[in-house]
Amino acid sequence: MPLTAPVLVIGGTRGAGLRIVERLVAGDRTVRVLARDPAAARSRLPGGVEVVAGDLTRPETLEPAVRGAAHLVFTAGAPSGRYAPERVVKATDYDGVLHTLASLGRTGFTGRFVYLNSMGVTRPSIWAMLINLLKRNTLDWRRRAEAAIRESGVDYTIIRVGFLTNGPGGKAEIAVTQSPLPLSPRHRISRQDLARAFAAALDHPRASRATFEITATKGPPGDLDARLAALQPDCS
Ligand SMILES: NC(=O)c1ccc[n+]([C@@H]2O[C@H](COP(=O)([O-])OP(=O)(O)OC[C@H]3O[C@@H](n4cnc5c(N)ncnc54)[C@H](OP(=O)(O)O)[C@@H]3O)[C@@H](O)[C@H]2O)c1
Repeated sequence: MPLTAPVLVIGGTRGAGLRIVERLVAGDRTVRVLARDPAAARSRLPGGVEVVAGDLTRPETLEPAVRGAAHLVFTAGAPSGRYAPERVVKATDYDGVLHTLASLGRTGFTGRFVYLNSMGVTRPSIWAMLINLLKRNTLDWRRRAEAAIRESGVDYTIIRVGFLTNGPGGKAEIAVTQSPLPLSPRHRISRQDLARAFAAALDHPRASRATFEITATKGPPGDLDARLAALQPDCS
């Protein structure tokens, strides 16, 4: 097992986060996952992944997970595809980010915070309205979470996606844009391809302090590194 500092994945127990963990492990990265239910998480995670018990709504549990991490990937949120009251949405999607940022400050974290967000946080659409009804005002809380990340002083990358699928990876071109797209089923990407983009952004110098959106488009997978090389940092 490599002895380098781990990449901490918060949200790595399922969905997009789990695909990112698998991708990082396949790339020989050391990975640590925060888990509310460590036993269930271990049964799904690849061997060699360190599991640390913790919960975003219990801030005191975050510091042990964050300590010594090289980078942090944050994909957690109120569960996809289900109703969530605003109390749960705020506690997870907003307060969870604030608690995580605070723990980074306390532990002297010097890596990158790579944050998975949703399209539609700055651009209205009918689908954004529907998502806000299902997961109460999640896009508003997530827009505020982005602002908190930018203001925290930590190095960060914010990657926004439209609809996530469980389709295979490597079959589509990943388009990268810094012009916000409306949330819509037209803008979708598989969790596998999303994982590829996250792994590439983790150390990419041009992804530092940058916000961008990714979608799958027709065509063979192109040169993602070259697309990331064209990123512009956010205005500060
Ligand atoms: N699905 C979509 O089409 C879509 C589109 C745009 C953006 N997104 C966003 O992308 C992210 C990933 O989506 P997904 O569908 O792959 O997610 P998912 O399968 O619903 O997974 C959510 C993750 O967040 C974790 N989590 C939730 N509450 C937590 C807490 N209090 N403490 C620690 N971990 C907690 C879950 O852990 P447990 O295993 O313990 O439950 C799980 O690992 C979500 O934040 C979602 O809002 C999704």
